[in-house]
Amino acid sequence: MISPAKVAIVSLLLDLAGAFGSKSSIPNTFPDLFACVSQPSVFSCENTTVIQNTCCSPTPGGLVLQTQFWDTFTGFEKEGQKLPKNSWIIHGLWPDNCDGSFDQYCDLSRQFDRSPSPAQLPDGTVVPAYKGPGVDTFIEEFGRQDLLDFMNKFWVSQGSSNADFWAHEFSKHATCTSTFDVACYGPKYKKNQDVVDFFDAVVRASHQFPTFDLLASAGIVPSNRTTYTLSQLQNAVKAQTGSIPYFGCTSNGTILSEVWYFNHVHGTEQFGIFKSVDSTTPSTCSAAGVRYLERNPSSEREVR
Ligand SMILES: *[C@@H]1O[C@H](CO)[C@@H](O)[C@H](O)[C@H]1NC(C)=O
Ligand SMILES: *[C@@H]1O[C@H](CO)[C@@H](O)[C@H](O)[C@H]1NC(C)=O
Ligand SMILES: *[C@@H]1O[C@H](CO)[C@@H](O)[C@H](O)[C@H]1NC(C)=O
Repeated sequence: MISPAKVAIVSLLLDLAGAFGSKSSIPNTFPDLFACVSQPSVFSCENTTVIQNTCCSPTPGGLVLQTQFWDTFTGFEKEGQKLPKNSWIIHGLWPDNCDGSFDQYCDLSRQFDRSPSPAQLPDGTVVPAYKGPGVDTFIEEFGRQDLLDFMNKFWVSQGSSNADFWAHEFSKHATCTSTFDVACYGPKYKKNQDVVDFFDAVVRASHQFPTFDLLASAGIVPSNRTTYTLSQLQNAVKAQTGSIPYFGCTSNGTILSEVWYFNHVHGTEQFGIFKSVDSTTPSTCSAAGVRYLERNPSSEREVR
């Protein structure tokens, strides 16, 4: 039961936050979560009654995957698009359904992907290619050069511009995450606020899974001369997060290339607590051994 006094204090704080925000030159990008104060407090995919307010907990995509790549080149090194030294790169934040299935491109009014993949959904809907300004300009319009700089360091694309990769992640995945629905931002919604908010949320979630350091702490570092077993990788992460992530490999399961961390989220994807759970997807890495390749130094740069 929430007391009227508590409600009054919360709305006073929100008013103050609003007043402060309007004076500041950097606009807020967070959703209007006041209605969530009265919602049951549960982890996504662990609710025992129907989730009524889907702005408050990711629904139905409550199995939230923070995904990362280990790439060894970008293809755009000459343009300065290089990989962060001693770090994996961010891929995205995906709302899988609790059974591991997933939806994609759920709101074509927020389609910013220049090369939709797939270009046609299972129900036959065509996903039109986007031709407007890059999503990096949305971030600039909100005055978030700090976020843009971070994303250019740690959310680096292979074979396309970084902004095109970010747009793909937003339109394919975030449009299927209920907590980023435009309606959750309330009547003061500013165009593309949800896009910038999503990028902030992905960065925030990725901080919880520093793969390079998690593996290095168990002595697992990139090496062109060593072969690691899948269970060495899994045990190294499980010792830190409590759960086994999905490791993906290329070249018939011999070259380590990606990791997906599965979570249930208490609250919203934006601000909620992530609880690691085991992967629902079997690894594509060979149990016999995988290589975690060193990058060519010319594909990397020092970042902080
Ligand atoms: C959890 O919430 C979802 C979305 O409202 C609902 O479909 C599902 O049935 C709920 N689970 C239980 C056990 O009530
Ligand atoms: C994967 O294995 C098959 C069968 O052994 C082989 O023909 C193929 O060339 C391998 N592919 C790669 C990328 O190593
Ligand atoms: C390690 O091997 C990969 C794949 O052959 C190669 O691209 C990379 O340059 C090598 N790195 C070093 C430091 O030798």
